[in-house]
Amino acid sequence: MIQPALSPHFPNAFAEAVHDGLTHHPQKELPSMYLYDEVGSGLFEVITSLPEYGVTRAEERVLKDHAADIVAALPQHVKVAELGSGSGRKTRRILEALCKKQPTHYYPIEISRTALQLCHRELGDIERISIVGYERDYLAGLAEVSAKRREGEVLLVLFLGSTIGNFSRLAATRFLRSIRGMLKPGDALLLGTDLMKPLPTLISAYDDPIGVTAAFNLNLLARINRELGGDFPLDAFEHVARFNPDARSIEMHLRAKRPLTAHVRAADLRVEFREGETIWTESSHKYAAEEVAPFAADAGFDCAHQWRDDAWGFAESLLVARA
Ligand code: AVI
Repeated sequence: MIQPALSPHFPNAFAEAVHDGLTHHPQKELPSMYLYDEVGSGLFEVITSLPEYGVTRAEERVLKDHAADIVAALPQHVKVAELGSGSGRKTRRILEALCKKQPTHYYPIEISRTALQLCHRELGDIERISIVGYERDYLAGLAEVSAKRREGEVLLVLFLGSTIGNFSRLAATRFLRSIRGMLKPGDALLLGTDLMKPLPTLISAYDDPIGVTAAFNLNLLARINRELGGDFPLDAFEHVARFNPDARSIEMHLRAKRPLTAHVRAADLRVEFREGETIWTESSHKYAAEEVAPFAADAGFDCAHQWRDDAWGFAESLLVARA
C-alpha cells in the first residue's frame, strides 16, 4: 500500500493532519476520518440508535425489505467486497440472501483491525459464507480483491451507510471513478445515499438533545490531547451542526466559547482561537434520489435499480459498471 510521505517533522499522519488543518486559513479544519478512534467509533454506534438519527435504520429497512430483489438483480457467481464494514449488521441481510442462492465469498475492507474482528464475529455464523478481511484503505483493498478473482467472477462492491456523503461532491465523483477503474464491465456497486430532508429533521439528526453527537465531535479534541500531547480545554468548545445550502451538506464544527491558545506537542503547534471561531470537522452531503443516476454515469456506471425508504429519505442504488 502506498502511504503519503510523512514530513520528518511529524511522528505520524494524524499529527501532520492536525498541524495542517489547524493552521489552515481562514477556516481551521480537521479531517473527519480522525473522529473514529475507539471512543469515536463507539459513540458513532450509539448515534445510529438515536431516535433523531434515522439514516442507519432507514438503510436497514431498505435492505431488509429488498434483499431478495437486490440479489435477484445480480448475475451468478458474485463475490462481495465491502468498503468500511462497520459492525456488519446491515450487510447481514444481503449476505444471507446471497448465501441462500450460492456459497459466497465476502471481503470486508477496513483500516481498523478491531472493526474487522467485529465483522467476523457478527457475520461468521451465516451458512455457506467465507470471510476474508483486508486491513487496508478502501481503494488499496479493493484493488487487491479485484485482482485476485478468477475469470467469470463478478464483483459486487458495497458502499453503504451514506459514507459517500462525507466526501465533497467533487471528491465523491473522483472516488467513484477510482472504484470504476478497478472494476470490469458488469461488476456492480451498491451505494447508500442519505436524501435531502426538512432542515429541522437534519439539524436534530446531527445535534441530538442528549449530546451524543456533541461528544462524538468533541472527542476529536480529546483524542488530540490523548495521542498528540495537546492541551485543548474541552469545556471551552461547543458542538455546532449547521446546514450549508450551497454544498447541500450538514457541517459539524467545534466552536471556541472564548479566546484561547492551545498547544499540540507532537504537531509542533501553538494555535490561537478567537471567541466564536470554529474548527470544521465533518460534512455530510445530502442527495436527491434523481441525482444518483447522473452522478454515477459521470463515473462510468449505469444506475440499474434504486430502492428507497420514504419514511426517512434514503436511497440504495445498484450501479453497474459500463463497458
Ligand atoms: C458515517 N457517516 C455517514 C455519518 C454521517 O451521517 O455523515 C457520520 C456522522 N456524523 C455525525 N453523525 C453521524
